[in-house]
Amino acid sequence: MAKVAFIGLGVMGFPMAGHLAAKGHDVTVYNRTGKKAAAWVAKHGGAHAATPAGAVKGVEIAFVCVGNDDDLRSVIYGDEGALAGLGKGTILVDHTTASAGVAREIAKAAAKQGVLFLDAPVSGGQAGAENARLTVMVGGEQAAFDTAKPVIDSYARACVLMGAAGAGQLTKMVNQICIAGLVQALAEGLNFAQRAGLDGKRVVEVISKGAAQSWQMENRGETMIDGKFDFGFAVDWMRKDLGICLDEAKKNGARLPVTALVDQFYAQVQARGGNRWDTSSLIHLLKND
Ligand SMILES: NC(=O)c1ccc[n+]([C@@H]2O[C@H](COP(=O)([O-])OP(=O)(O)OC[C@H]3O[C@@H](n4cnc5c(N)ncnc54)[C@H](OP(=O)(O)O)[C@@H]3O)[C@@H](O)[C@H]2O)c1
Repeated sequence: MAKVAFIGLGVMGFPMAGHLAAKGHDVTVYNRTGKKAAAWVAKHGGAHAATPAGAVKGVEIAFVCVGNDDDLRSVIYGDEGALAGLGKGTILVDHTTASAGVAREIAKAAAKQGVLFLDAPVSGGQAGAENARLTVMVGGEQAAFDTAKPVIDSYARACVLMGAAGAGQLTKMVNQICIAGLVQALAEGLNFAQRAGLDGKRVVEVISKGAAQSWQMENRGETMIDGKFDFGFAVDWMRKDLGICLDEAKKNGARLPVTALVDQFYAQVQARGGNRWDTSSLIHLLKND
């Protein structure tokens, strides 16, 4: 069992840190809004600290799961940041979905003080975090991965080293690119079904057993037909992620015409007040135009 810290107890971090405690690891947490950290300790035991630097004192592995690149920098750098408290030979694992650039930047800063950094974004959503069924895509060095993996397995069903620093984030970008176009196609198909006078749920039932099957169809098809979006992966997060993908594509020359278009559709969902709606809310634009 390891002595670990977890920084960022949001929708994802709170249950992920909970699984670490349930597996018997000695967990100290930090959250910007202190009452969430107190609630976590009341539920899971362990300890909470007033700063990221305080939380990581004496740990072998520190985990982070915050919002975006700037949020990440604010809990990693500075006198109160995680790097200020981590000792030589420790491992810093970041589960935030962020850019490959910030992953490489932090890996470099960490290496200067003998800390090993792994960028390790996740897929599987809130349900995956709660049920310990996340997919973790990792960038960094093999030795750090080998040490961290058995601990990450507390909340993962798959955890794979993809390459050097930044490779985890690049893999997560591929994941988001694959989802974006697919959700739009599903929204168009289900809206078409309804306008054609078909029973949408029966359509999903039959075509989900054929070549059109997808996780989105099986898990979101019915709720899209019902117009329910108050759960799941928020549109604001998806826009952040697609922005990261589009920026990276400018650097590597990949063409992302559908992804860029779907990003604009999500901007329209935001304009309708859907910032916290699930990403399946693309169908709202088709049904309510
Ligand atoms: N939700 C999903 O389904 C899902 C799935 C896959 C990946 N992700 C990714 O996982 C990350 C976290 O998502 P989430 O849904 O857990 O988000 P969330 O519920 O909004 O939680 C964000 C966490 O980060 C903390 N935070 C944000 N900015 C901070 C800052 N500047 N300084 C210190 N702490 C800060 C928040 O602290 P406070 O409590 O003080 O606000 C909170 O603990 C994101 O990168 C997201 O894209 C999410």
